[in-house]
Amino acid sequence: MEKGCRSRIHAEPYERMSPPANPSASSEPPERANGLPTRRTTGIGITLTAVRRFFKTGVEAIAPLDLAIEAGAFVAFLGPSGCGKSTLLRLIAGLDQPNEGSITFPGGPAKRALAFVFQDPHLLPWRRVLENAALPLELTGIGKPERTERALAVLEEVGLADAAQRFPRELSGGMRMRVSLARALVTEPDLLLLDEPFAALDELTRRHLDDQLRALWQKRGMTVLFVTHTLSEASYLAERAIVFSKRPARIVADRRLTLPAERNFSIRSTPAFLAEEQALYEALVRGEGA
Ligand SMILES: Nc1ncnc2c1ncn2[C@@H]1O[C@H](COP(=O)(O)OP(=O)(O)OP(=O)(O)O)[C@@H](O)[C@H]1O
Ligand SMILES: [Mg+2]
Repeated sequence: MEKGCRSRIHAEPYERMSPPANPSASSEPPERANGLPTRRTTGIGITLTAVRRFFKTGVEAIAPLDLAIEAGAFVAFLGPSGCGKSTLLRLIAGLDQPNEGSITFPGGPAKRALAFVFQDPHLLPWRRVLENAALPLELTGIGKPERTERALAVLEEVGLADAAQRFPRELSGGMRMRVSLARALVTEPDLLLLDEPFAALDELTRRHLDDQLRALWQKRGMTVLFVTHTLSEASYLAERAIVFSKRPARIVADRRLTLPAERNFSIRSTPAFLAEEQALYEALVRGEGA
């Protein structure tokens, strides 16, 4: 279970989410999925200024950290186990507060919508897939007809429309993870935070979900922060990869991934892709010795 996730039904991240912003606020024309408009966001930018997080135990997870993330970016976070990646995501999500420094969202919409996806899908076993996907809308008081329609649309987007009436126990691990992704996307977030979401899945399923996530990002335009331990996943998914040192987390490398926007399996064997993986590997090694 995710460290620090206190609620038994894991409602905390959803209770803190704002309702989706007004679709008409976007200058982009809405795309349609399942007959329902899908809000295209420009994402939100994030600025961390001298952010520091230490615990009463004496553990310093984040050393004073400066980091600017542009609106609509897809950024991968890498670093040794225990270096502070999850802590950083929780700080950005507002689930935890820094001891020093500040986190601001310059130029973002007045009502920020963010969603958090954990490694464990955290589905409610007594609820059907549709009701799980609709949960954040239910928690924000949206009526049943609308939340059903929106949950169905997003289940369609992740390829699970046929499984809407099933219970989580009737799904594979990859399907459960897609429900978790659908539940995060149903609020049409400006910022999507994912903490090793596909780590427990087999390679094929993971690659399939990587493709789906990237396609959703390209379609919707939200800002995505994605924690992973897998170099190839970071290189494949992200436009920018940030490698942290061992605890307390400091930035060892901050790379723009200059790979083609359209990615498919064949890119993985190209010299450019392999060079990115190697560069991230070398940064990780440097960070371990930091
Ligand atoms: N609430 C807390 N109280 C005390 N220490 C904590 C707390 N949360 C995290 N830590 C400590 O902070 C450090 C960073 O933890 P964090 O979970 O952010 O690491 P991580 O980079 O996500 O690791 P992993 O890759 O294994 O998930 C660890 O030493 C952890 O034990
Ligand atoms: Mg972690």
